[in-house]
Amino acid sequence: MKDLVFDLINQEKVRQSEGLELIPSENYVSNAVLKAMGSVLTNKYSEGYPNFKGVPGWDEAKIAEEILPNYRYYGGQTNIDRIERLAIDRACRLFHADHANVQPHSGAQANNAVYYAWLNPGDTVLGMSLPAGGHLTHGAPVTLSAQIYHFVGYGVTDAGDIDYDDLEKKALECNPKIILIGYSAFMKIPDFERVRKIRDKVAAKTSHEILLMADMAHVAGLIAGGIHPNPLDYGFEVMTTTTHKTLRGPRGGLILSRGNVASPLKKPEKTLKNIPILIDRAVFPGTQGGPLEHIIAAKAVAFGEALKPEFKDYAKNIVKNAKILATELIKLGFVLQGDGTDNHLILINTKESFGFDGKIYEKALDLIGLTLNANALPSDRGGAFRPSGVRLGTPAITTRGLGDSEMKVLALWMKKVADICKDAGSEENLTKYSAELETIHDEVRALALKFPVPGI
Ligand SMILES: Cc1ncc(COP(=O)(O)O)c(C=O)c1O
Repeated sequence: MKDLVFDLINQEKVRQSEGLELIPSENYVSNAVLKAMGSVLTNKYSEGYPNFKGVPGWDEAKIAEEILPNYRYYGGQTNIDRIERLAIDRACRLFHADHANVQPHSGAQANNAVYYAWLNPGDTVLGMSLPAGGHLTHGAPVTLSAQIYHFVGYGVTDAGDIDYDDLEKKALECNPKIILIGYSAFMKIPDFERVRKIRDKVAAKTSHEILLMADMAHVAGLIAGGIHPNPLDYGFEVMTTTTHKTLRGPRGGLILSRGNVASPLKKPEKTLKNIPILIDRAVFPGTQGGPLEHIIAAKAVAFGEALKPEFKDYAKNIVKNAKILATELIKLGFVLQGDGTDNHLILINTKESFGFDGKIYEKALDLIGLTLNANALPSDRGGAFRPSGVRLGTPAITTRGLGDSEMKVLALWMKKVADICKDAGSEENLTKYSAELETIHDEVRALALKFPVPGI
């Protein structure tokens, strides 16, 4: 009998083709990435690392050819080693890093490994607070890392930028071991130079080194595409990211760093210069077991795609689409956090725009085939059971090829649905508007089918 799982995968293919993905942390991978993920590499155990010191001047053909002694705990690694070395080399080139650890299973794993590499229990991390737009892994009390380390949060200004004065004040007060710039709901471009200066000022008054860490999970594709500053070019020692958002690879994590690259077998002194080696040891055996080499192969393929000139156009178009969509929404009466966007992400304050919360809007948009998520706003101060807004973004629809004119149509659909939510007043009442919603759904489906999803 055919496995029911495949029926459900087919149904998901229909959902993805007939709808439009507006969740800013999602994307559609290429056929090549899908192929690498679904390969026999999943059969292989390969705890440890290939031997790769990021030798400059190595060309890909040489990397794919060379067989070197490795730091693995299992035999049969000839092909795996060379694939992982290609992934490391491409990641280093893409992000101007001395070192890349391509093994983290996810963005959360990547962040936890950096904490474990650099901190001792009780040490302080200064990161963006969750209500301001930071991620759960930046110190939410429900996480394991928050039980081990001490997190202090900085905020954002009313205009939606990082509150650098607050950051500096808190850094001087709490004497952190890590200053972390990173976020899941933030629409400005961070001033990395200013943060480095703050670090240097605070470090001059303390006896320990302070690590500058950037969690660029959301904007890594924009950095790779050259339209967003790269924190590693501004004195940051570490950048973590997911590989599946704007970067358009398989679901996974990645840690890039600057510093000495050497064998992970010998425990190095805990210095900023040694951070690449400390990170390798913190990923394996520190916080993970066997790497997912089929995913690492897919990461290598995605990094190869991101190194191509076409990816620069893709990154540019993500931001262009987001800016057009934001402008159109504002024209139609939507209130946006930070008055718009400088990246791929838009936060709508539905409460202030139309008086309803993000949950009803998320549900109603789902009914017409537009997927996004309800999201708390800084004004909710972390206490919102029903968040006051929604978060959306353009990476996925830009992959499908939607452009200027489609952004205008999208904004109009979103306004029609906002009007319905306003009238309905509650999620239960949306059923009374089924006919109107179904008419818009037909229009969404017709447009979506004109822009096929890769791999379907
Ligand atoms: C800034 C940031 N860091 C880390 C993560 C965690 O990534 P993952 O879900 O792969 O663990 C996310 C995910 O949304 C994120 O936005």
